[in-house]
Amino acid sequence: MDFLITCKSNYEKILARESDGYQLKPSQQGQGWVLLKGDDKAAFTDLCFACHVLLSPLNVSAASVNALTEKLVNLFGQHVGSTRILGPWPFLFFSSTEGPLIQHAKTVEKYCFQKLQKKMSRVTKLAREGIPAGAKFAEGFFVYFTGFNQALVSFQALSQGQQRMTMDPQAPSRSYLKIEESFQVFGRAPRENEKVIDLGASPGGWSHSALKRGASVIAVDNGPLREPVKSHPRVHHLKADALKYRHEEALPVDWLLCDVLEKPEMILELLEKWFSHRWCRFFIVNLKVGRLDSVALLKSIRDKNKGLAPYCKELCIRQLYHDREEITLMGEVKPPSSS
Ligand SMILES: C[S@@+](CC[C@H](N)C(=O)[O-])C[C@H]1O[C@@H](n2cnc3c(N)ncnc32)[C@H](O)[C@@H]1O
Repeated sequence: MDFLITCKSNYEKILARESDGYQLKPSQQGQGWVLLKGDDKAAFTDLCFACHVLLSPLNVSAASVNALTEKLVNLFGQHVGSTRILGPWPFLFFSSTEGPLIQHAKTVEKYCFQKLQKKMSRVTKLAREGIPAGAKFAEGFFVYFTGFNQALVSFQALSQGQQRMTMDPQAPSRSYLKIEESFQVFGRAPRENEKVIDLGASPGGWSHSALKRGASVIAVDNGPLREPVKSHPRVHHLKADALKYRHEEALPVDWLLCDVLEKPEMILELLEKWFSHRWCRFFIVNLKVGRLDSVALLKSIRDKNKGLAPYCKELCIRQLYHDREEITLMGEVKPPSSS
């Protein structure tokens, strides 16, 4: 089987190396995408650097926008054939690169839908933009632009869930977007009355997100908190070193949030301490990988004997839309009896 996997621009080589560990063999790549051959559809839910996955993509090219539109509409018509579509179906016309190519994808999308409206009006009304996030491939119409008159078309796709979030003007920092996206991708967030420890909390974007959901927060950072977090009644600011922090009476907590600006190996050591003592149940941790070998780092985290994986009931590692040279670990620690 062939797969098109999209990623952040400039992460193609890393994605190809990561895929190699899952017996997925890269055959071609461009900015923000990699074509791979493999047998295991399930492998994709593990890939940290993958955003969207399109199954059996067809290469379509044409000399003009009109000709490309015509080809895409015909392909869709042939695919649907005599199938009677009764419910909503997803579609996405997109590209990994920012700017003109995305605009172009949206223009071609508009022309395609104008034509489809005339040919199959009822079916077109059931179209919903986006690829549903989840472990299963969704049936729909997915067009990924690799160039202005060149696209890869697929009728089955899955999304790892990364997405641009909306900024809250009250949030003390733009890091707020990262934690909001993490909660969305993980499918869980702190609830009312839950206890959260936020390591590396200053100026307070992550704490703000937990406080908004009704949780109480111990914010650990030598740096200052900004309003509205600073004087929030459910926040306690501890000016301390997060790596040494151990506030016995507060532990265990429901959530560990960690966005500490330190080397990944120091954070992983810290996590091993937290997980082995089961000081938290859920965790969201941002690792600043910079120019480190991320594939080797992922391998060590997932190592079934020495890594963090043995402590976890669930472990999801993703490069989020709002991550820069970073990756995010999300998961649940195993209860004491099963570790
Ligand atoms: C990216 S910022 C955190 C942003 C924060 N999550 C937010 O939403 O506003 C990283 C933070 O790590 C803190 N930091 C770095 N080393 C630390 C340590 N050893 N202990 C506590 N905080 C530390 C820095 O003071 C800085 O505030």
